[in-house]
Amino acid sequence: MHAIYARLAVYKASCGCLGRVKPVSRSAPHTLDKDSTAWTKTPPLQGKVMAFTKDTRVQLSDGHTMPVLGLGTYAAKTVPKSVGEEATKVAIELGYRHVDCAYIYGNEVEIGRAIRAKISDGTVKREDIFYTGKLWCRFFSPDMVRKALEKSMSDLQLDYLDLFIMHYPVSIKPSGPEIYREDDEIYAYDNVDFCSTWEVLEACKDAGLVRSIGVSNFNRRQLERLLNKPGLKYAPVCNQVECHPYLNQKKLTEFCKSNNIVVVGYSVLGSHRDPNWVDLSTPVLLEDPILIAIGKKYNQPAAVVAMRYVLQLGVVVLAKSFSPERLKQNLQVFEFELTAEDMKTIDGLNKNLHYGLFLIMKDHPEYPFHDEY
Ligand SMILES: NC(=O)c1ccc[n+]([C@@H]2O[C@H](COP(=O)([O-])OP(=O)(O)OC[C@H]3O[C@@H](n4cnc5c(N)ncnc54)[C@H](OP(=O)(O)O)[C@@H]3O)[C@@H](O)[C@H]2O)c1
Repeated sequence: MHAIYARLAVYKASCGCLGRVKPVSRSAPHTLDKDSTAWTKTPPLQGKVMAFTKDTRVQLSDGHTMPVLGLGTYAAKTVPKSVGEEATKVAIELGYRHVDCAYIYGNEVEIGRAIRAKISDGTVKREDIFYTGKLWCRFFSPDMVRKALEKSMSDLQLDYLDLFIMHYPVSIKPSGPEIYREDDEIYAYDNVDFCSTWEVLEACKDAGLVRSIGVSNFNRRQLERLLNKPGLKYAPVCNQVECHPYLNQKKLTEFCKSNNIVVVGYSVLGSHRDPNWVDLSTPVLLEDPILIAIGKKYNQPAAVVAMRYVLQLGVVVLAKSFSPERLKQNLQVFEFELTAEDMKTIDGLNKNLHYGLFLIMKDHPEYPFHDEY
């Protein structure tokens, strides 16, 4: 495993620049007024970051809005799915309105049941909840996209998703009749062009199955390719990427903002550290002495400081917790504001460290993390 990380580091150091990239066409139909990416709530924010609340939503380029704090729901296979179900109910009771999940997490039945339970008992209405699902890489072939979405909708028992995103820009061959096998550890690379996948996502939006469509783990080059796709009907509303003080994604965020794409940050707390996906020799973000020291000034734990930092970067924050205490604690992100000086100090922690390198895909031609950003 370490040899792979070392090889990747050498590769990254040797390519360091973007190479040839096609500029984004300013006349493309996706090009919208930049101001519409501004952080908004109803009524609009008065321009003061401190004014964020758990009800604050960001405007998406297609007119829908997304709550700035989302509940992450990924957990290692060893965690019973019922734990995530109960935690999702608690989160909704506490005021979380954005739930991030995915087919590949294997828990859409339970997460959907939790959401529906909170609708049935009157805590929320369906339209209060913003649910994100993800198209797994096995289903990129145009004939599979809608079926995969309908499978998620059927598991969730929801008649529309708020957001459906391509999980990664890489395609994997579906093996056998099953579209996903729990025990299948072998990923066979496929070469489906994500632009052809995107066209079906556009059709799913037109059919009313999803309100908004977006991407995840796309680098700048891949975003540009999608934005420049001939006949593009809808631009991606968001790019969901890893984002935290050790990987602050400033360059990618700047590019996304200038193209009206909202950045949604995952692993904001330094990731789940599931050894199947994360190299455990990486530093633990929440043990960083600078985050802890800054937190002491505000009487906040490092976790909440990391969340606040990402929020003040203008990035939507996903945070996973299945603990009622920490779900509550994480809402403290709305109770204070980091000074410009604190932001600068935390900027200094950036080391472009990806916890989730998805190395199993590292030789795929569309592997996104060889580029600088
Ligand atoms: N698009 C993608 O490719 C992608 C990749 C990774 C993740 N995601 C999404 O983003 C979500 C979040 O990312 P992540 O799962 O990597 O993890 P994360 O949110 O960075 O961290 C989760 C870990 O932090 C702990 N934690 C939560 N609140 C805490 C607090 N206040 N103090 C100390 N520890 C705390 C959690 O433990 P407890 O549960 O015990 O509190 C859990 O172990 C995922 O669940 C998933 O929805 C998307």
